[in-house]
Amino acid sequence: MQAAKKQDAQVYTFTVFPEFLNYAGTLFGGKLLSEMDLAASNCARRALYGSGCDGLVTAHVGEVNFLTPAYLGDIVELHTDVLEWGNTSVKVGIKAIKEEVNGQRRTICDAFFVFVALQKGKPFKHKLKPVGP
Ligand SMILES: CC(C)(COP(=O)(O)OP(=O)(O)OC[C@H]1O[C@@H](n2cnc3c(N)ncnc32)[C@H](O)[C@@H]1OP(=O)(O)O)[C@@H](O)C(=O)NCCC(=O)NCCS
Repeated sequence: MQAAKKQDAQVYTFTVFPEFLNYAGTLFGGKLLSEMDLAASNCARRALYGSGCDGLVTAHVGEVNFLTPAYLGDIVELHTDVLEWGNTSVKVGIKAIKEEVNGQRRTICDAFFVFVALQKGKPFKHKLKPVGP
């Protein structure tokens, strides 16, 4: 079995623009989930480099908690980290933190995503395992 490279936690950032708002004037949850899916899949993709897979898909989104709204102009940071390795899957944890225009920071959402490594469109045993602490 091949040892997975230790993945440093990764951060992906976007700014809340007017087109991302719902009609209550706060960041639309679907937009946030879409960005979280992208950030988490980038984390999984990087973790899978060298495994031999040629792609990955989102299989599951779990325990999504929208904790507090984000507003126009907030910077949203998405912090991702690999939590678990399966045979073909990888579970990524994600936390969204908003930074308001005055610099105040607060967690707005957390969740986890499960991705499945693919080869030629089929689940692929990536043979990765976590390295020690
Ligand atoms: C995800 C998918 C490839 C799994 O295919 P499958 O034939 O069910 O594969 P398997 O039953 O062999 O499961 C493969 C792995 O996925 C995991 N898995 C499948 N469905 C899951 C779910 N709903 N939640 C969590 N894990 C899941 C299994 O536990 C297994 O993990 P492991 O190999 O690490 O033990 C298939 O269901 C699929 O293509 N779904 C659509 C994906 C998609 O369109 N996503 C949105 C766009 S990216």
